[in-house]
Amino acid sequence: MKLKKHHKLVVAADGSAASGKTTGAKRISKKYGLKFLSSGLLYRYASYQLIKHKPKNKISFLKKVFKNLSLKKLEDKALHNPEISAHTSIIAKEQKIRNILKLFQKKFAKKYNKVCIEGRDIGTVILPNADIKFFFKCSLDVAARRRFKELRKNNKQIKFAEVKKAMSIRDNLDRKRKNSPLIQAKNAVIVQTDKLKNIKGMLNKLSEVIEKKIKEKYGS
Ligand code: C5P
Repeated sequence: MKLKKHHKLVVAADGSAASGKTTGAKRISKKYGLKFLSSGLLYRYASYQLIKHKPKNKISFLKKVFKNLSLKKLEDKALHNPEISAHTSIIAKEQKIRNILKLFQKKFAKKYNKVCIEGRDIGTVILPNADIKFFFKCSLDVAARRRFKELRKNNKQIKFAEVKKAMSIRDNLDRKRKNSPLIQAKNAVIVQTDKLKNIKGMLNKLSEVIEKKIKEKYGS
């Protein structure tokens, strides 16, 4: 099923670290022609820039950084280093920083008719009126194994127990923070990725929900 040029579809995808949300959101974006944004990369980029430049005034510095940020800059592999991951969830607690990134995400969503953003607070704060809200879940053990496999490609010394511990700390910070915590939106569809056989199984589930919504909005 294809979306027509004038059709609009806004999809929010939230979930904990390595829950499968990026893979799922990217695949459906490609399949249905949605403009995709990983908001986690925005937070990672903010963290990276703060560590690199140590500005006196973090807020005015980040305002400048995000004013004309090109998405190409988010492709830097360094943004996925474990040090950046840990620091990111600390700066992500700050409301003033979140506001800057919120503005960026809102502008992104406004620019396109068909859009999918993934993160932690997309269905609850950034796109509360999204057509579809997915909430990805996965046990810590399975999520840590996924992340470990990815990180091992660039660092053979990394240990599974370290990866799992760091992820557990980060998920807890994200769930328990006061500002925009990781919580399921009321009307979200749960995608339990450790119960699905493979990526194809996940894609089938996501597609089913999307096609139902397209039919509902535009008929078959
Ligand atoms: O999704 P990813 O693991 O790349 O996100 C990195 C970190 O960015 C998260 O652990 C979280 O602290 C922060 N984040 C957030 N809100 C979002 C997306 C990411 O606080 N919408």
